Amino acid sequence: MLELDAIHTFYGRSHILQGVSLEVRRGEMVTLLGRNGVGKTTTLRSIMGLTPAREGRVRFDGRDITRAKTHRIARAGLAYVPSGRRIFSALTVRQNLLLCVRGAVGGNSAWTVERVYRMFPKLAELDSRKAGLLSGGEQQMLKLGRALVANPRLLLLDELTEGLAPTIVGDLADWLGLLKAEGFSMLMCEQNALFALELADRGYIMEKGQIRFSGAAAELRGSAQIRQYLGV
Ligand SMILES: Nc1ncnc2c1ncn2[C@@H]1O[C@H](COP(=O)(O)OP(=O)(O)OP(=O)(O)O)[C@@H](O)[C@H]1O
Ligand SMILES: [Mg+2]
Repeated sequence: MLELDAIHTFYGRSHILQGVSLEVRRGEMVTLLGRNGVGKTTTLRSIMGLTPAREGRVRFDGRDITRAKTHRIARAGLAYVPSGRRIFSALTVRQNLLLCVRGAVGGNSAWTVERVYRMFPKLAELDSRKAGLLSGGEQQMLKLGRALVANPRLLLLDELTEGLAPTIVGDLADWLGLLKAEGFSMLMCEQNALFALELADRGYIMEKGQIRFSGAAAELRGSAQIRQYLGV
């Protein structure tokens, strides 16, 4: 479904991604792990065309999107949930969701605001609250909801658990589990390696702009070498 073939990405002269190859198959949940500053966010930005790769190829459903414009990549069915507080604070939860609604492509039954609320009743309870008043965990849930109503086929999630209390991380894990059961494909970058490896099918571990290890999540979780490398 998504395929990165030896991509090289730069910020100015800084050579950040140095031949990154990875793959997400349909219905798969894949995690990209690694310490601070290794290039995880840059990988997602390269996929979305925000910092396009200078060399190598990014393909989505067989189509070359390496140098496509971000809005076209989004329209092709990719949704990027960046880290940090990217919501409209002065608008309500519902208004934030409505801004992102886009019809489903193909024969998929569309995710509407009401469908998101049915699946995630906690968000429904916040319907008319100003987004700026939400807790950190509630904001993450809103960001996920906004990605859903855009009806993507692949979700790119950056540090969803950042700064959240353990109970909230548990809620997010439940949410992602539900989405996976719905057949969503996902690529998620995480500092919280154990959280990610519990949920994911497969994982990649980056170091200095390159993939160092990859494998089934269970295998990575079970490896003493990997656990030591990730510091978990
Ligand atoms: N806009 C930018 N201009 C120049 N360098 C940048 C820019 N954004 C990131 N970098 C550098 O690129 C490298 C990779 O950053 P990136 O954000 O991809 O790392 P990351 O793996 O997502 O880290 P973290 O876990 O802290 O989010 C870092 O050395 C960072 O300092
Ligand atoms: Mg990052």
